[in-house]
Amino acid sequence: MIGAGIAGLSCAYELVCSGHKVAVVDRGAFGGGMTARTSAHLAFELDDFFEELRSLRGEEACRQYYESQRAAVDRIEEICGQESIDCDFARVDGYFVPAEEKDIEYLRKELDAARAAGFADAEWVDTGPGFWSSGPALRFPRQGRFHPLKYLDGLVSSLHRRGANLFAETPIVGLEEKNDQVHAETGRGTITAARVVVATNSPFHLRIPIHTKQAPYRTYVIAGPIPKGAAPDALIWDTLEPSYHYVRLQPGDVEDVLIVGGEDHKTGEAADMDERLARLEAWARERFPELGRTAHRWSGQVFEPSDYVPFIGKSPGYERVYLTTGDSGEGLTTGVAGALLIRDLINEGSTPWADVYDPDRLMLRGAVEFVKENVDAARHWAAHLRGGEVSSLEEIRPGEGALIKLNGKMTAAYRTDDGDLKLCSASCTHMGCIVRWNRFERCWDCPCHGSHFSVDGEALQGPAFTPLSKVESA
Ligand SMILES: Cc1cc2nc3c(=O)[nH]c(=O)nc-3n(C[C@H](O)[C@H](O)[C@H](O)COP(=O)(O)OP(=O)(O)OC[C@H]3O[C@@H](n4cnc5c(N)ncnc54)[C@H](O)[C@@H]3O)c2cc1C
Ligand code: FES
Repeated sequence: MIGAGIAGLSCAYELVCSGHKVAVVDRGAFGGGMTARTSAHLAFELDDFFEELRSLRGEEACRQYYESQRAAVDRIEEICGQESIDCDFARVDGYFVPAEEKDIEYLRKELDAARAAGFADAEWVDTGPGFWSSGPALRFPRQGRFHPLKYLDGLVSSLHRRGANLFAETPIVGLEEKNDQVHAETGRGTITAARVVVATNSPFHLRIPIHTKQAPYRTYVIAGPIPKGAAPDALIWDTLEPSYHYVRLQPGDVEDVLIVGGEDHKTGEAADMDERLARLEAWARERFPELGRTAHRWSGQVFEPSDYVPFIGKSPGYERVYLTTGDSGEGLTTGVAGALLIRDLINEGSTPWADVYDPDRLMLRGAVEFVKENVDAARHWAAHLRGGEVSSLEEIRPGEGALIKLNGKMTAAYRTDDGDLKLCSASCTHMGCIVRWNRFERCWDCPCHGSHFSVDGEALQGPAFTPLSKVESA
């Protein structure tokens, strides 16, 4: 198992429980990836909406998606009980609310599509929860919430107890199938396995397939204390396009914590993070006036598949390698659904959900989105030909980064708070797009397929795994 987030650890757990000998490796600490940045709604309503999936891929695809996502939340609840994992898991209602009056009509369509998918108890309510008590909403019963890192901690303990081998700080830099085995190259040696699952959030072992069918988006979250009873213990999300708001409560002993997210943008294509966070906070305060000081602000990345459904199953180009990626905003549930799906593919050779998640599927009518995202990628490659953002290193202030042409090469230049310069090639080590400065996270983001690099050039998020090459000071 390569990757120790929710997808990898869940899949390792399923395979160990069905009698396989499993090793899990992660290039960093376990649970240090996007699972540590989630807002942890466990929703099995599709966040890109069943209505959209139905018109794109038909009712059977919606049914498979619904069943797999519902099974994922059931499985998390079952594992919490079975392994005595104390992670604040609770079943709560999910509410889909209109962002504007005009969106109310869309709710009716979505209710129809969700029911056709199998969501028999989804219902129309005339008054929504909390701030939305004056208007209609859709209610989705039996959704869930939990504390993701407490849950992963529980999975790690049970994997230990059940004899799995767990290796942190072990990056995998290559995969090769040979003699009915997979050889995973660590840079310090090779791990050999009968099968390998790539659960690295974005598949590092592929160049073209998959990466052209999904696009990376940054999403932002704020969290702060709120008195008990001032916000409902429910999942709430709205219809806002292109990026919806999402809200949930994390219960505390004395007061609760309200977690509010939204303000997404395509990775590497915005520099106004402060404004986005300010807008998010203003939106939250207007609806939850008792929200206390915003104690936490963070961002993370999700991959949006062109046709709304993740890619889970046998990896393109391999016989013994499986992958799970394309999480959208529902990677916790799709990660767990993927674990069940891959377990069945390995144990039984088939699964009733294979078609909807098939990584090899064509993008059919999602082709418009597909073409648009790939035109964007081409534009980012062309950035090599343009000038830099600054013409001299002196223009870069402490704590800031910028692109600059040095000796004809696009260079990612960062000045530390102490005034030192860190210079790296701006050419992403996945496929050569020009990276962009992320002033909020202080890292370099690749707009093409979502790799992130530290100011020292270290690869933080795939698909890239090789650092940006260092540039000597001019
Ligand atoms: C702000 C935010 C809010 C979200 N809200 C929700 C939500 O409410 N509900 C929901 O369902 N989803 C949500 N998501 C999505 C969800 O959190 C993620 O999709 C999910 O956590 C991804 O899990 P993962 O296991 O695929 O990836 P990760 O948790 O990123 O784990 C992948 C692991 O692979 C390792 N790795 C990478 N490359 C290599 C390599 N070459 N060798 C070895 N190891 C490697 C990484 O170090 C990492 O630990 C949200 C995401 C964000 C960012
Ligand atoms: S992530 Fe693919 S080129 Fe950067």
